[in-house]
Amino acid sequence: MSSSWFVFTTIIFPLVAVMAAIVSPQVEARAFFVFGDSLVDSGNNNYLATTARADSPPYGVDYPTHRPTGRFSNGLNLPDIISERIGSESTLPYLNPDLRGQKLLVGANFASAGIGILNDTGIQFANIIRIFRQFEYFQDYQRRITEIVGKEQAQRLVNQALVLITLGGNDFVNNYFLVPFSARSRQFSLPDYCRYLISEYRKILLRLYELGGRRVLVTGTGPLGCVPSELAMRSRNGECVPEIQQAAAIFNPLLVQLIQQLNSQLGSTVFIAANAFSTNMDFISNPQRFGFVTSKVACCGQGPYNGLGLCTRLSNLCPNRNIYAFWDGFHPSERANRLIVQQFMIGSTKYMNPMNLSTIMEMDSRT
Ligand SMILES: *[C@@H]1O[C@H](CO)[C@@H](O)[C@H](O)[C@H]1NC(C)=O
Ligand SMILES: *[C@@H]1O[C@H](CO)[C@@H](O)[C@H](O)[C@H]1NC(C)=O
Repeated sequence: MSSSWFVFTTIIFPLVAVMAAIVSPQVEARAFFVFGDSLVDSGNNNYLATTARADSPPYGVDYPTHRPTGRFSNGLNLPDIISERIGSESTLPYLNPDLRGQKLLVGANFASAGIGILNDTGIQFANIIRIFRQFEYFQDYQRRITEIVGKEQAQRLVNQALVLITLGGNDFVNNYFLVPFSARSRQFSLPDYCRYLISEYRKILLRLYELGGRRVLVTGTGPLGCVPSELAMRSRNGECVPEIQQAAAIFNPLLVQLIQQLNSQLGSTVFIAANAFSTNMDFISNPQRFGFVTSKVACCGQGPYNGLGLCTRLSNLCPNRNIYAFWDGFHPSERANRLIVQQFMIGSTKYMNPMNLSTIMEMDSRT
């Protein structure tokens, strides 16, 4: 009995301490978790039988490898740029088999193009990972890191992580407004639909809190009526489509209200609202000020505004992606993504509520 105690204290315990010291630098670096739709999917859909995918050229044309990765961008997407700003490597898609061992400690991306707040959003894309399934994978993830660093460290890694969730756009463009007289538009007026979405989003955010999320960046929806795809299908003369803009104008303020309620209910700034509408609208209404030649025409696509159909090898492709705000009919170019993340980092309360990410990062580094 006493000799085994001796073995533990003089040999095993120091050994464990040394090992912990070796492992801990990676554990201490802040992890990053991503949930949501195509704006933040880094390639999960490559592994699924779905039409919502970005794994063939010219997607990725400006990515470091110049190959498609599943990101809906010419180069980096929003999560990549956030990772860059918090000083970590990009998080891998959860379904990527390379995501194992120490790599898990960097975090993971669970996002899947085509999904929405509602389970019936994106049904036309067949096999996609809906938000509650993304959360099941997150639980799975937590079991896996518990095996590597133990229960306490795993819990800490999750609680101290930065989390990004981007949802809502598809509930409008790929559900309510997808076809005239869609089931949801017959069921709900637009304001009632927005209230319904918010009531479902509340459950989603509370679940994320239950699963350990403590710093969660929640992006509202962008100016959906201004994307090249909607301009091509619905705009009269290149103006943003009013009823779709109206959707974002109703939804976003309700989301900010929800976030304020949740934070006061939880007694802490768990959720941070990022105003994706204003950040995008800045360069959509004045593209030249930001070095873009246009915010109406997508770089890659065909038809009016290059906004019809998908971006493929056969599409028009602009030679210089840095001067286009939109890469394809729905998604910003890497350069536009950089402008958006810049506002996440340092934006005033017009963009970030209750505070921006640099303030959050500074607060968290002091505790
Ligand atoms: C969506 O699906 C999840 C489980 O997959 C379920 O828990 C949830 O209640 C569903 N939401 C609605 C509004 O039906
Ligand atoms: C946002 O970030 C900037 C630069 O770090 C800071 O000066 C500013 O006070 C912050 N604003 C808010 C509202 O948090």
